[in-house]
Amino acid sequence: MIIKVDNLTKQFDGLKAVDGVSFGVAPGSIFAFLGPNGAGKSTTIKMLVTLLKPTSGQLEINGFDVLAAPAQARRSFGVVFQDYSLDDELTAYENMYFHALIYALPKAERRAKIAKLLELVNLTERQKSLVKDFSGGMKRRLEIARGLLHEPKVLFLDEPTLGLDPQTRNHIWAYIKNLNQQRQLTVFFTTHYMDEAQRYADQIAIIDRGQIVARGTPQDLQRQTDSDSLEQAFLKLTGYDLRDENISAAERLRLLNQRKWKK
Ligand SMILES: Nc1ncnc2c1ncn2[C@@H]1O[C@H](COP(=O)(O)OP(=O)(O)OP(=O)(O)O)[C@@H](O)[C@H]1O
Ligand SMILES: [Mg+2]
Repeated sequence: MIIKVDNLTKQFDGLKAVDGVSFGVAPGSIFAFLGPNGAGKSTTIKMLVTLLKPTSGQLEINGFDVLAAPAQARRSFGVVFQDYSLDDELTAYENMYFHALIYALPKAERRAKIAKLLELVNLTERQKSLVKDFSGGMKRRLEIARGLLHEPKVLFLDEPTLGLDPQTRNHIWAYIKNLNQQRQLTVFFTTHYMDEAQRYADQIAIIDRGQIVARGTPQDLQRQTDSDSLEQAFLKLTGYDLRDENISAAERLRLLNQRKWKK
């Protein structure tokens, strides 16, 4: 297993955001981490990528103990966060270059590697444009290119395609799938788009209220829950109540109607 999570817990004041989570991810596989809003997905990723200290538990990436050897672990993965993390006042190239400096890429390799990755995500022609003038899809593609710059073995993607049109989502998944197949890149992603998990994940873990409630291939989860689709399996496993208190009343009503109808 290239990622090992053992009995991981994160306590925020009164809330156990992650509550005794254990799983492994096989090298070269695509792993989907699914769950309702607030389930603990991003918190788990933040602990794996050394941004947040676990309350308890063990984490290993590429053979390195994440807590004891964070620097080595960090060299093994790239990450695209759920929240936007580019520098708007820099060009696409400069955003990449800055990242190359942080990761201490040898000077001789920087330009060629940046050029190759910008090509991969179809941003070569826009490399000198300021990122603030990019569309949402272009920004996300740039974040993915940046996450790959130091040639990580593992790529974490926290909702990589949120808010993107179907064309851009397909493009992004084509790059990811290609990297997975050509370079045996291990991909760990979260999404609320069940079709993406169904289509691309080798293995899925479903987390709800900080605990893993199911694991398996998309087919396994459907079978376990006697469902016709992954979305139905997901709803059966995690329930129909709403989890996010921050959404607007109109959105809540829309979701409620949609879910009532699905039930
Ligand atoms: N820094 C923090 N301090 C206090 N509570 C936090 C903090 N970060 C996250 N939480 C809480 O932990 C829980 C899990 O949050 P997390 O962001 O991991 O959910 P998520 O599964 O990524 O949800 P989403 O699908 O909405 O992104 C939530 O209840 C959240 O409010
Ligand atoms: Mg999240």
